[in-house]
Amino acid sequence: MSATAAPRPSPLAYDSPTYRQAYSRINGMVVVGEGLADRHFRRLAKLLPHDREELLRLGAMEARHARDFVGCGRNLGVKADAALAHRLLAPLHQQFQRAEAQGDLVSCLVIQCLIIECFAVAAYRLYLPVADPYAAPITAAVMTDEREHLNYGEQWLRPRFAAVAHQVEACARRAVPVALGMLAELGDDLTTLGIDPAELVAEFTVLFQESLEAIGFEAGAARRLGNRLAARALA
Ligand SMILES: [Fe+2]
Ligand SMILES: [Fe+2]
Repeated sequence: MSATAAPRPSPLAYDSPTYRQAYSRINGMVVVGEGLADRHFRRLAKLLPHDREELLRLGAMEARHARDFVGCGRNLGVKADAALAHRLLAPLHQQFQRAEAQGDLVSCLVIQCLIIECFAVAAYRLYLPVADPYAAPITAAVMTDEREHLNYGEQWLRPRFAAVAHQVEACARRAVPVALGMLAELGDDLTTLGIDPAELVAEFTVLFQESLEAIGFEAGAARRLGNRLAARALA
């Protein structure tokens, strides 16, 4: 197989059984994760009636992402492993539901708009250079959308920083290890797809630290918190 696009680091055998099996599990995570993001934005639209239309629009984008990534699987003749994805994503979704039940809007925003979106941007950024030619432009477009979702959370939290800083930090301590913990069972599959799991953790950590800074944390505090959580997740 010859590489068709210049930046591809190494040609991957997209049609090999090994690649397709790994793709089925990672694609499952992506499709179910996008569907979950859609549900979270629709819940947020109820919690933030003032921003209802905007949040419903963001949710609709997530639903479109899910459909587009189902198409990527179909293009490779692969069916997503949804059962594994539901099991791995359940703890993070439960944290969102618990926060919602407790009226903890800040944690709901941190889980979806900071943690999940940073995770999505990090994962798509590393997948893009090794994606098959069908999935690459879809991934690039989705990544731009996820940036917008991340931005929504930052814009909401930033002017309220003094009042919400404690809640943001407490939520990050609970939810970041759970989010990164999903990678424990996906390491080999990510590697098969050309993604280094350690690099994914590092990429997420940098993005999350940037987000913490964007909402008002001092650079040193953001760095320490991000590094501590990443180290715990890798331990
Ligand atoms: Fe998305
Ligand atoms: Fe998103």
